[in-house]
Amino acid sequence: MTGELSPIDKAKFVAAKKATDFVEDGMRVGLGTGSTAAWLVRCLGEMVREDGLRIKGVPTSTRTAELAREVGIEVISLDAAKWLDVTIDGADEFDGELNLIKGGGGALLQEKIVATASDQMVVIADIGKEVETLGAFPLPVEVVPFGWQTSQALIEETLVGMDVLGRSSTLRMNGDAPFITDEGNHILDLHLGRIGNPRQLAMVLNQIPGVVENGLFIDICDAVVIGYGDGRVEVRDINAGTVEEATLDFVETDNLFTDLAD
Ligand code: A5P
Repeated sequence: MTGELSPIDKAKFVAAKKATDFVEDGMRVGLGTGSTAAWLVRCLGEMVREDGLRIKGVPTSTRTAELAREVGIEVISLDAAKWLDVTIDGADEFDGELNLIKGGGGALLQEKIVATASDQMVVIADIGKEVETLGAFPLPVEVVPFGWQTSQALIEETLVGMDVLGRSSTLRMNGDAPFITDEGNHILDLHLGRIGNPRQLAMVLNQIPGVVENGLFIDICDAVVIGYGDGRVEVRDINAGTVEEATLDFVETDNLFTDLAD
């Protein structure tokens, strides 16, 4: 890897690096998906290779599984692990109660299953992900391909009774074809603008036939590690009610970038 990382990538990196404090020898660790989670996987891989850290990783997507194996982390299935000590993952938005919108990368179903099967879920994010109220980021909803347009119509109808600003939705595309999740489903992105009652919306959406899961993570996240472009990090623990601040030295070591092209 050559060249300087952008401030946003530095923020993601320091959040991921700091979050490795939550990982101890012998743990079963849920590995998130997305650009921030990829930094975590690289950092953990370096600790495995350089420091002899022994962990078993449960990835939340095929691309995270590939990266984890590439950097030297032992990968096992959730069924083999049964329960996890900690899951560390990115988010598209988080609010003051650490409720989240996830699924920007399309992996929300595995992400929610894995996070819920963990003693602790830690979110890693740059400060740009913090919001007063969830909803500016389009809410991903995973739907089965069969009759997806009917599911979409039912979702939009249901939104009439919800505390949201917008009600339109779009089928996520991958070029000219619909995006397909690891489970073979489609994603509808709901353009809500503002979600007044995320807890209620999360429950109501999952009652609609054809909906597999939605990207609202309510009462799942325990702590958030927020990174800044200048190396500062902030760890907010919602259960302990603590906030810890630190500054990490940023060192671009070749070891961390083994999977990245020049
Ligand atoms: C993947 O489906 C998502 O939930 C990601 O965790 C989320 O989109 C954050 O991704 P970045 O870290 O790339 O912003």
